[in-house]
Parts: sequence; C-alpha cells; structure tokens
Amino acid sequence: MFKGVLFDLDGVITDTAEYHYLAWKKLADDLGISIDRQFNEKLKGVSREDSLRLILNYGGREKDFSDVEFKQLAKSKNDHYVEMIQAVSPQDVYPGILDLLKALKNADIKISLASASKNGPFLLKQMGLSDYFDGIADPAAVNAGKPAPDIFILAAQIVGLKPEECIGIEDAQAGISAIKASGALPIGVGTSEQLGNDIALVASTAELTLEFLEKQWNK
Ligand code: BG6
Ligand code: MG
Repeated sequence: MFKGVLFDLDGVITDTAEYHYLAWKKLADDLGISIDRQFNEKLKGVSREDSLRLILNYGGREKDFSDVEFKQLAKSKNDHYVEMIQAVSPQDVYPGILDLLKALKNADIKISLASASKNGPFLLKQMGLSDYFDGIADPAAVNAGKPAPDIFILAAQIVGLKPEECIGIEDAQAGISAIKASGALPIGVGTSEQLGNDIALVASTAELTLEFLEKQWNK
C-alpha cells in the first residue's frame, strides 16, 4: 500500500490553473504576444519565472527586457493573480478532494503538497484545507522546477517518505514528467491528449477516491 499522496494544487485541488492562464494572457497581451489555451498547456506546473521566459521566447521578445524589467513583469503577473484569488473559499475546492483528504487521514496516509506555486499556503488557507496537509514543499527550496523531480522528492521527504512509496496527482505535462522522474506513481487529471496515454487518468477529481488510488497502486 502507498504511504503518501503528493498533491499538485493549481488545477488539481481547485480551479486556479484558469486564473494563472488569465493573468498570463493579460500580461502577454500587454506585451503584444498572443497566447492561447494550447500554448498554456506548456505553462501549467511551470514556475513563475520559467513561464515568463517561455512567453517572451514565444513572442520573440526574450532579449527585450533587463533583469529588473523581467522581475517587474513577473511581479505584475503575480499581483494580478493574487488579486483574483482573494475570493477563493472552501466552496471552490474541486469535487471529491475534501472526501479524499478525509479518507487519506483516516487511513493514516501522509498528505503533502508539491506545488510550484508560492501562493500555495495562502490558497490552502483560503479553502480551509491547511490542517489536512502533513507537509508543504517550499518551491523556493528546490534547485529545479517541474519537469524536474525535485519538488516531488522534497514533498515526500518532508513527510518522512521516499517518492517510491507515494502517489503523485497532477494536471500538467511538466508535473507528470516530474512525478515519473521522482519515482512516485502518477495519476493525471485531464485527457490523454494533454497528459499522454501511459498513466492512469481521471476526467474529474470526483473520481479520485481512496479506492481508485488503491486500485491504481495495486495494478
Ligand atoms: C503552478 C502553476 O502550480 O505554480 C503555474 O501551475 C504557476 O501556472 C506556478 O506558474 C507558480 O505559481 P506562483 O503562484 O508562484 O506564481
Ligand atoms: Mg497544476
């Protein structure tokens, strides 16, 4: 039996992946760069700075900004994003997630957050979920962001586990690659077009029951 579950946050626990997209789209528009949802798949799970680099490269504007201006752009995206998430509440937790967290707690399975977002702790608090988490991996403490495995390795470590003893849940291409590289068992939230057809997938978080996780683990 697995001993821990390593959760991504944005797009797995709640719909903030959409807010990230809207905030990046506004910033890109302001820079004369047009991004769409298909391009956004590449941004999901990726750190704030790496996302900005991808957008500037995409628009051919990677050489147009000084380090100070780059930081200013990243800050401006985050300020807009933070504004949008002020209203996040327990009602915004995706279907099935609260029941899953409760079931994991009852079964003594560790719960750890492996989000790339520096806004993760704030969002858990807004949703009333902080107390369910045995650990929150600090994205500022890892060398390389997703698709590197570092954040999943750290998320397992802070709850006293090896990734091999854990399931990782992700909605992003970069995140699934990170889980695979860490040695944890990936479960994807999304379609095979987005996440590939070589891992367990759910179309909705409502399918993420303890029984479903056990079934995937025992396969
Ligand atoms: C990930 C999101 O969870 O966190 C990305 O999927 C985001 O879209 C990244 O860029 C970093 O988030 P933040 O809140 O620190 O800018
Ligand atoms: Mg995500």
